[in-house]
Amino acid sequence: MQALQLDAIGQPVVLREMPTPTPGPGEILVRLHAAALNHRDVFIQEGKYAGIRLPCTLGSDGAGEVATHGPDVPADAPAVGARVLLNPGLRWGDNPRAQARDFVVLGMPDPGTFAEYIVLPAQYVRPLPAHLSFAQGAALPLAGLTAYRAAFTRAQVQAGERVLVTGVGGGVALLAVQLCVARGADVWVTSSADEKIARAQEHGARGGIRYNTENWVKTLIQLAGGAFDVIIDSAGGAAFGPLLDAAAPGGRIVFFGGTLGNIPDLPPAKVFWKQLSILGSTMGTPQDFDDLLALVTEKGIVPVVDEVFPLAEGEAALRRLEAGAQFGKVVLKIA
Ligand SMILES: NC(=O)c1ccc[n+]([C@@H]2O[C@H](COP(=O)([O-])OP(=O)(O)OC[C@H]3O[C@@H](n4cnc5c(N)ncnc54)[C@H](OP(=O)(O)O)[C@@H]3O)[C@@H](O)[C@H]2O)c1
Repeated sequence: MQALQLDAIGQPVVLREMPTPTPGPGEILVRLHAAALNHRDVFIQEGKYAGIRLPCTLGSDGAGEVATHGPDVPADAPAVGARVLLNPGLRWGDNPRAQARDFVVLGMPDPGTFAEYIVLPAQYVRPLPAHLSFAQGAALPLAGLTAYRAAFTRAQVQAGERVLVTGVGGGVALLAVQLCVARGADVWVTSSADEKIARAQEHGARGGIRYNTENWVKTLIQLAGGAFDVIIDSAGGAAFGPLLDAAAPGGRIVFFGGTLGNIPDLPPAKVFWKQLSILGSTMGTPQDFDDLLALVTEKGIVPVVDEVFPLAEGEAALRRLEAGAQFGKVVLKIA
């Protein structure tokens, strides 16, 4: 089979011929039709990720069809030929509050989805919602799982609540908008670009503001008719402080990333006087993943695909994500 591998930090990914894996007991061989990129893949290539082991096939997101079962696959596993997507959160463990020490994200160190075939234990191979194409299905798992847990399991977003999602150009952020809109929340966004705010409105956001404008918090609170019950962020850094002002008394701020680095200033009084909850979130449990699939199926949610590249042009796809010009997920089509 062909697979897109990273050999060393700072190198371009290389398409090469690899042995097709064979499923062991309890495992399924999936023939992948599409894979999607995450910022994680760029961070690994740049050497900005913990525990990098190379060479490795990158990619956490994939959709395709079941090729074969290994021995002793559970009877309720998707049948040979079924359209499936993959849960990229491997070995979460028994505690729904936090992942176990050996939890990993699919795609480094385990071989990832930028390949024609992948073998995984049956429990991570889930039915692809019928209304989604393979490209749309590949766009869902990592971003959708992260957005679902942050919004609902951690921040407990309720219908009618005012929600702010920062940096809506991000893959997780846009899915957070779509999921929260589907659950009846009043969703607002920030972005670097007016065009991305307008596109978020096409997916149900009420409106938004550029985070690089002066006094954006005050202006946005006026636009939205009040401060925010829930804020979903992944920028962190110096951009985090203003979120304390954007939060309503009793508000919840949940974050799953630190794109801008450490938070330099966090005045305790703003947190305790406003009774704020600041919540961290990472990926999600198998239950979060199945709840995500149920919500996506019930509400007919379609993940947004920014651009589709052939597998052989994976390096160009990584550079598009690095440049930050995307809206929605960058996808690889696998022949
Ligand atoms: N813990 C987890 O489970 C988990 C899972 C997935 C991702 N992450 C992390 O979450 C972050 C986003 O991941 P992603 O894959 O969604 O990345 P992405 O698609 O590359 O999105 C990054 C986005 O950050 C936004 N941004 C930049 N500066 C900002 C600022 N000052 N204020 C608000 N937003 C700003 C930009 O939004 P605009 O384009 O709108 O300007 C940009 O599109 C990364 O740090 C990633 O490592 C963590």
